[in-house]
Amino acid sequence: LRGEDIIVVSNREPYIHQRIDGRIEVQRPASGLVTALEPIMRACSGTWIAHGSGTADREVVDRFDRVAVPPETPAYQIRRVWLSKEEEKGYYYGFSNEGLWPLCHIAHVRPTFRTSDWTQYVAVNRKFAKAVVSESRTKNPIVLVQDYHFALLPKMIREVLPDATIITFWHIPWPNPESFAICPWRDEVLEGMLGSSILGFHTQFHCNNFVDTVDRFIEARVDRESFTVSYGGKLTAVRRYPISIEWPPAPEMVQKPVPDCRSNIRQLHKLPAEHKLGVGVDRLDYTKGITERFHAIERLLELNPEWVGRFTFVQIAAPTRSGIEEYQHHESQVRDMAMRINSRFDSNLPPPIVLKVEHHEPREVYEYFRAADLCFVSSLHDGMNLVAKEFVAARDDDRGVLILSQFTGAARELPEALIVNPYDADQCAAALHLALTMPADEQRDRMRLMRGLVAEFNVFRWAGRMLLDAAAMRRRSRLLD
Ligand code: G6P
Repeated sequence: LRGEDIIVVSNREPYIHQRIDGRIEVQRPASGLVTALEPIMRACSGTWIAHGSGTADREVVDRFDRVAVPPETPAYQIRRVWLSKEEEKGYYYGFSNEGLWPLCHIAHVRPTFRTSDWTQYVAVNRKFAKAVVSESRTKNPIVLVQDYHFALLPKMIREVLPDATIITFWHIPWPNPESFAICPWRDEVLEGMLGSSILGFHTQFHCNNFVDTVDRFIEARVDRESFTVSYGGKLTAVRRYPISIEWPPAPEMVQKPVPDCRSNIRQLHKLPAEHKLGVGVDRLDYTKGITERFHAIERLLELNPEWVGRFTFVQIAAPTRSGIEEYQHHESQVRDMAMRINSRFDSNLPPPIVLKVEHHEPREVYEYFRAADLCFVSSLHDGMNLVAKEFVAARDDDRGVLILSQFTGAARELPEALIVNPYDADQCAAALHLALTMPADEQRDRMRLMRGLVAEFNVFRWAGRMLLDAAAMRRRSRLLD
């Protein structure tokens, strides 16, 4: 694909330049979307358009607002789009993350819809549409639109570049028609998305929900045989493309031998060498089920007190969207709960929970993955969840147990994990106990199967399938011309 006119659009940028203590540091954000797309862009080259959100982002771009990345070995470029405080508030914090995010996740947080947020959402989508047009070198670029921040973008791009191949990937779940219908701009969102040539979701269930929603509310022709929607003379194929991660993992992620990771992390937390370690890695988001996870740990210690002082769970929680009240409230709930549980058990022993609310670079996260006896993913609802797949990728020693929520897309692909309902604390506690006592050969058998799956269905396959479908479409339309 090198040489093709490929443009990715997402809100979050893959490299953020931050000014820290006078120096410029480059950070890799905690985002499943970025984890998946970044290796693809390194392989294909092209332009990635995203919101310039770092404190030093403006200092490193050229006069076209572009910067070549990765910093060490440039392979593609980021084109940064600048947003005003009002735009960020309405488009990002407001409509995207207080409206669409809770609307699409069944996490029982009520969506908030404000007209002022919607106005900014429309304006910012328009701003990105302009950036796409100015970045495209041809009349028919391949544009990869990412996620719920840009529901209106496909239609806006199509109006100016009618021959563009627009592949939109929705990284979060799609709810059923009744749930979606509460969005006051329901039809506009659907019409915007139907500007896409291909519309992708992680699971068939979400494809079905989307097509049902269109069928219910829009004057479009839905063909359930070919899973296409015809609207305004334009055909959109709705397809399932389960996202994944880079395979093999970048060498620097797995460079440090597992025994060194095990001892380093235990020393860092002043834990004995044979201490059992669990790990959780998430953005500090209410959809991730972190309080449910802590509750399960508490239940484990109640039911199996032999683990008190012998098992510690390290929760890495990357701060996120902290401008939103619900997230502030959630953070204090998580902090209070960790404190309460730790104070319940003997304070002379190592604590049950270590909570680290701070940004970690991917390499540090992998060290925790490799040091741990188990990884616990307890999302209440999650499109895919790439942490589960990253844990598997990190374990080239074929050890470690994955406990995985049944409400993640990943649970459909990794049945060898211990699959749990995060709302059922007793079941989760039993899974923790099982993980802590699982014989090495059973760990190995499960881990090998999971590694085999992630190796085969890696992110290159995800992107490859989408781009092959797009290429077939382009060929067909050339033949019809
Ligand atoms: C989810 C979304 C992504 C987003 C990521 C991080 O994975 O699907 O679009 O980038 O969360 O959230 P943030 O708001 O920090 O970009």
